[in-house]
Amino acid sequence: MDETTRAVRELYEAFPYPSGPPIMRAGFDARYLLSLGKLARGESTPIQVLDAGCSRGVGTLGAATLQPDVQFTGIDLNRVGLAEARSEAERRGLRNVRFEEIDLMTLDGLTVPPGGFDVIISSGVVHHLSDPAKGMAGLSRVLAPHGILSLMVYARRDTIHPIAKAIALLSPRQASLVERLQLGRELARDMASQADCPAMWTAANEADNVEFVDRYLHPNEHHYGLIDIWNLARPAGLRPLAFADPREWSIENAVPEGDLRQQARAMSKWRQALLIESIKRPGNHELYLCKAGNGARTPVADEELSDAIFAVHPESVIRVDTRSLWCSTRIESIALVTRSGEELSLPKGPMATAGMILRDQNEPFEGKTLLAELEREGIHPSSARKCLQHLLQIEALYRPHAVDCTQPQGELVTTVAG
Ligand SMILES: C[S@@+](CC[C@H](N)C(=O)[O-])C[C@H]1O[C@@H](n2cnc3c(N)ncnc32)[C@H](O)[C@@H]1O
Repeated sequence: MDETTRAVRELYEAFPYPSGPPIMRAGFDARYLLSLGKLARGESTPIQVLDAGCSRGVGTLGAATLQPDVQFTGIDLNRVGLAEARSEAERRGLRNVRFEEIDLMTLDGLTVPPGGFDVIISSGVVHHLSDPAKGMAGLSRVLAPHGILSLMVYARRDTIHPIAKAIALLSPRQASLVERLQLGRELARDMASQADCPAMWTAANEADNVEFVDRYLHPNEHHYGLIDIWNLARPAGLRPLAFADPREWSIENAVPEGDLRQQARAMSKWRQALLIESIKRPGNHELYLCKAGNGARTPVADEELSDAIFAVHPESVIRVDTRSLWCSTRIESIALVTRSGEELSLPKGPMATAGMILRDQNEPFEGKTLLAELEREGIHPSSARKCLQHLLQIEALYRPHAVDCTQPQGELVTTVAG
């Protein structure tokens, strides 16, 4: 193990990231991720997901609990975090997850399923690798040709970097991590108590120790603009497929209405993304990548709607607000809450009717089923089709691959590594 990797492991073993209980994170739904690529899996065996840099298994455990027919492998070199993840998996009786101590710089010892992993998730990890390009090449090597890599890396850290630098400048050369933490906390407390202190110091003061260490005391951190991500992905045989939250990356959300928005709309998608990056200056980038031979699926054509399979988008919530009245309940409003928390009200008519039909739908269904239900509710067939297309566009629905909707054949791994 190289020096930098050793220092990173030391930090995370002392302060395993993140604090808090396991959660099902946005972006962890395997079928949804696979639905983004035009290439589908060949066989309906259990979907294989790798969480590269799983730490305490917070994301992996939540996802494995909610997707019992998907097989998860979490890898990290943080032995403290892994031990915690394994014991939590055992406590929950999970049969579809295992955790392995693997260095992402080599991937030595990793059990790779035949054909590679269908999905790889790596959140907040690649930017801490001693050689991120080598790490990306390794991940690409174990990704199946149809596979999807969900990647989160730091972008500009304008509110983090100055604090990290101030702590480094104030710390004696040989100060230990704990000594630097004490010094950093004191500095954040003092700064936050000043009138008119910049918000970044208040945020630092309010962070718990795990967050504080990860943000301000890290021994190795790279930062990526969109162009850097492109340069990291391409040599590894990967290419960006989509942003995790396309709404955040829409011109409508970035450029105020007017002539300049019109001008921006006429630009290529890549130029639009660079423009939005400059305007919004996000703190990190979360996007999906695929192998060079894969690519985005073509949108479903109107004549395919009937036979296509759909499912409710795992990262959107259909919310129905009701009011209880004397012996009855009245529906006040129906809305779609998107991944970023934006609330899109579904207007009365086909959209609201579809919202009511879909709110409890937890299995994939054929388009014809929804179209027939809408028609039964008195909606004209052409409006029903438009409604279905609109539901896809606003990400209330997505289109899983057919192979991912059949009962998986084959055994799940039944042991939880001890
Ligand atoms: C910020 S944490 C992110 C954890 C988790 N992905 C999450 O989002 O909660 C970074 C993790 O990457 C792991 N890591 C860093 N370098 C690694 C390497 N070379 N091999 C394996 N894991 C590594 C660390 O041990 C740490 O657990």
